[in-house]
Amino acid sequence: MQLTLEERAMLEGNHGPATQRAMEIVVALGNIYGAESLVPVESVQVAGVSYKNLGEAGLDFLNQWAVDGARARVPTFLNPAGLDLLQWQDLGFSPEFAHKQQQVIDTFVRMGIEATCTCTPYLVGHVPSPNAHLAWAESSAVSFANSVLGARTNREGGPSALASAITGRTANYGLHLEENRKATLRVQIECIVDEISDWAALGHLVGKVARNRIPYFTGLTLPDSHWDHLKALGAAMAASGAVALYHIEGMTPEAQMNDMLASTYEDWTITELENAYEALNQEHSSKDIDIVWLGCPHASVEEIERLARFAKGRSFVPTVWITTSRQARERALEEGYVKSIEDAGGKVVADTCAVVAPISDRFHHMATLSGKGAHYIPSYHNIPTFFGTWEQLEHIMLTGKSPIEAITSGQAK
Ligand code: F3S
Repeated sequence: MQLTLEERAMLEGNHGPATQRAMEIVVALGNIYGAESLVPVESVQVAGVSYKNLGEAGLDFLNQWAVDGARARVPTFLNPAGLDLLQWQDLGFSPEFAHKQQQVIDTFVRMGIEATCTCTPYLVGHVPSPNAHLAWAESSAVSFANSVLGARTNREGGPSALASAITGRTANYGLHLEENRKATLRVQIECIVDEISDWAALGHLVGKVARNRIPYFTGLTLPDSHWDHLKALGAAMAASGAVALYHIEGMTPEAQMNDMLASTYEDWTITELENAYEALNQEHSSKDIDIVWLGCPHASVEEIERLARFAKGRSFVPTVWITTSRQARERALEEGYVKSIEDAGGKVVADTCAVVAPISDRFHHMATLSGKGAHYIPSYHNIPTFFGTWEQLEHIMLTGKSPIEAITSGQAK
């Protein structure tokens, strides 16, 4: 592999042991994937932040890297942590867990990393330039950066993203290369895809078939505020498959400018979403639901506003959480949305989400309109999960019951 003088100096230890170890990781990955060179990255997003997933071994590993002098060379920010760093007591997290999670955050901050704790950094100011090379780790953010923002990133692991932060480089392979960004699966949509849950259901269906291929959608139309729909689609495809890039005919940046279909591709037509709703839905009866979770990926201010409008003058029966970034929560607070939601008994939870927070022993039946959430919650927490439309979730918020008809509605349109 061709290395610049500076990269070679990092590898030979001239920039200290922490940078040397980081460069060894970046170069090793490049060798595994046949990269001919490294490429400078504009920003890095580090996943693996929750103490629930890291444990003591992960915290020790991070701490040692920081003690050895690891410092981020490029703007670097964090994925969600295991709890809301300010409201944890109110939300019922233990002081022991909060103490450990704070140690993790402090260690990242010592390395010069911004404690954003969100999977939607692009909603709070971290919008990459078109064609910028990135090393992002959170799968839904990777999908959004590649597909909607036209940046270039592979789906990094926690240690490899951190190594890129410390070196400012990533190996130049995979989706960093123009020739690997063409679609090999054309998906023609011949049914209505309207609500956010429809986009999530579609993502779940396509991810299962596409696996790590790049889909090219035709026949989709988007509403004006389409980022929320696209983040739902990409997150679900990245969860049920490993889709890190998709194109939508005439809409996503690369598909607007070029022919993004590969010379040979498979064709697939989707005429209904019932199967996707059914596959995601773990609750086929009218069970009591004790938590409704919104905000996966982390909610935009507009999504918080929608919940606030519904909450006004109402009273929620189950626990209702909408998870979001700290910055979006602050804006929602200024606008009065947080108050409306809290008056109804709900919570606007920052810094974390229901997948990475330790909630397994606290809740028994969940409802969500997130395809990614419905995919992971049953296996991560052993909590059966109802997946449905916004209207069905409204019903659940007011009654605590899941409607029997839920699994097949949303497609009768
Ligand atoms: Fe984000 Fe957690 Fe969903 S990290 S994409 S809210 S599972």
